[in-house]
Amino acid sequence: MANGGRGSGAAADARVVAPVAEDTLGWRDKRTLPRHLRDMLALDDFETVARRRLPRPIYGYVSGGVETNASLRANRAAFDDIAFVPKMLVDTSMRSAATTLFGHTYAAPFGLAPMGGSSLAAYQGDIVLARVAAQANLPMITSGASLTALEKVKQAGRTSWFQAYLSHETPVISALLERVARAGFETLVLTLDVQVPSNRENNVRSGYNAPLRPTPRLAWDCLTRPRWLCGMFLRTLITQGMPHFENMGPRTPLISATGVRTSGRRDKLAWKHVELMRRLWRGRLVLKGVLDPEDARLARESGVDGVIVSNHGGRQLDGAVAPLRALPGVKAQAGDMTVMMDSGVRRGTDVLKALALGAQFVFIGRPFLYAAVVAGDEGVAHAIRLLREEIDRDMALLGLPSLTDMGPQRLTAAKGGEFLPRRD
Ligand SMILES: Cc1cc2nc3c(=O)[nH]c(=O)nc-3n(C[C@H](O)[C@H](O)[C@H](O)COP(=O)(O)O)c2cc1C
Repeated sequence: MANGGRGSGAAADARVVAPVAEDTLGWRDKRTLPRHLRDMLALDDFETVARRRLPRPIYGYVSGGVETNASLRANRAAFDDIAFVPKMLVDTSMRSAATTLFGHTYAAPFGLAPMGGSSLAAYQGDIVLARVAAQANLPMITSGASLTALEKVKQAGRTSWFQAYLSHETPVISALLERVARAGFETLVLTLDVQVPSNRENNVRSGYNAPLRPTPRLAWDCLTRPRWLCGMFLRTLITQGMPHFENMGPRTPLISATGVRTSGRRDKLAWKHVELMRRLWRGRLVLKGVLDPEDARLARESGVDGVIVSNHGGRQLDGAVAPLRALPGVKAQAGDMTVMMDSGVRRGTDVLKALALGAQFVFIGRPFLYAAVVAGDEGVAHAIRLLREEIDRDMALLGLPSLTDMGPQRLTAAKGGEFLPRRD
């Protein structure tokens, strides 16, 4: 099936090499950084601080995987299995990481993944992430499970990407799609790997629930994190009232003794519903959670514009293959669909490995939310800056004038074994 003239495809997604002056890259003199950000040297540094600031159940909700955390670990291990073969004496002085995706040229080949509950961890988390992403000229995907109405996130951040969790019911599908289109979103991301709620034992153990149950234990967890209690929770209550889950199912308050969040059954969702969405949605349609090359083929044949190779950051099916390993197989079946990936990307070198294996773009989740917890807008801007600096430095060290020069020929197995399409 064709893409209905929406203009996706290899041409639209070719990475452009537009030389960018150094001062527009967002570099910042380290001496002018606020004190609390000076020790943030890499994305992982934000987690250490955020862990101390967040109540235990909320940190557990953000950081956790599922069951044994096998996929969470595999996501990182996949990157460690790969080594680079850099090229010397290449003039990279005009290098650029600018990347064109769906007709828009972004500052770098990465964006901010959708994260429900962002506004539970960081003050106005959804708005902060959307706003800073827009300022940095990077895409941010608004979560369908956010505590902020999608219209508000759109207004604050100019993000054009919205992520939906949908059941098979046609009236639910068409109502949401109409609302999302009315708000002005252009790219709809349908998340597929949530057929049923996953088995997040860590949430049960730490006392996390959606909505949160007002228990003495929760009160204690919050009281022992005064910074979060005052700077996030009380501040939100005073300025906006009790947050609600806004975009999915009935409007449910964040804290409720009896409330139940219902979002409809999703285990009936099938390819015919993707085809229905394709007919109803005039913008770009992206499927998130594709790992199987055969699913990539079906997506292409259903008129989908792009796929995000993802295992939800190891939060759904424990043992699901690491997206980095699944990339080459999906890419082989993707045709002119745009291939993106997420799960476990933390470093500039990770971004480049993913690009070498067939991704045109990557998304990153947890680290940007931790950055918002640590220092709001400044924190997220600093995290973006760090990753952009890493990519720029790595391009020079690898001998890459342009990201289009990054391919499997620049990779080898780190431990003498194989790294390519092996499936975990
Ligand atoms: C706190 C949190 C909330 C998330 N909420 C959503 C969501 O609402 N929709 C969705 O498609 N994915 C959601 N995800 C998954 C992310 O979009 C993304 O796939 C994952 O975080 C990428 O892995 P990383 O955190 O290792 O970068 C969430 C992840 C986290 C950590």
